[in-house]
Amino acid sequence: MSNLVVFDHPLIQHKLSIMRDKNTGVKEFRELLEEIAMLMIYEVTRDLETEEVEIETPICKCTGRKLSGRKLAVVPILRAGLGMVDGVLNMIPAAKVGHIGLYRDPETLEPVEYYCKLPADSTEREIIVVDPMLATGGSASAAIRFIKQRGCTHIRLVDLIAAPEGVKRIQEDHPDVNIFVAGLDDHLNEHGYIVPGLGDAGDRLFGTK
Ligand code: PRP
Ligand code: URA
Repeated sequence: MSNLVVFDHPLIQHKLSIMRDKNTGVKEFRELLEEIAMLMIYEVTRDLETEEVEIETPICKCTGRKLSGRKLAVVPILRAGLGMVDGVLNMIPAAKVGHIGLYRDPETLEPVEYYCKLPADSTEREIIVVDPMLATGGSASAAIRFIKQRGCTHIRLVDLIAAPEGVKRIQEDHPDVNIFVAGLDDHLNEHGYIVPGLGDAGDRLFGTK
């Protein structure tokens, strides 16, 4: 599982445990998802390119470093992925935001794209796809496929919780995509929910159940 990073930072693990608790309400769940996304993005972007720049401080001239590589775009998978966007933007305010929406066709069970709007220059950007849950991997794999079909070549996937089944699916379908997760759980149940997981991320985020 070489292109998989599981974050073991104590702050992330602490916050994730509160999110998993069925008694945690919508407000706290939403705040924690944003906070964890902010902490995760710090590590997700660790390998970004920088270049030396000359700066004049109030005291003297010196050299520093500034980002020099591809600009970034964050792309949430609707709808639960929306809960991670502000956390990313807190750290990278200049990132552009794309959206991709998928539903599962009830007959074929294949994910169908119902919405996709990416930044106009997305092919030149590093794309960070965000979604709290990587269960079967069907949604994320399709989202990445649709993003690649629009010409994007540099894509990372950031999930709060993944099942081994979902990780395997992404590794098989998109071996070029690095996967970053806060928790790697045990398995999927017969309904496709992650065990132990946290339940339905979209419903807990938006209070729809
Ligand atoms: C959830 C989650 C992922 C997907 C994961 O979204 O946010 O997008 O399920 O499942 P998979 O890996 O088996 O595809 P859901 O389809 O419930 O939609 P929602 O975000 O609108 O609630
Ligand atoms: N989608 C969710 O929101 N939760 C799961 O456990 C699996 C898919």
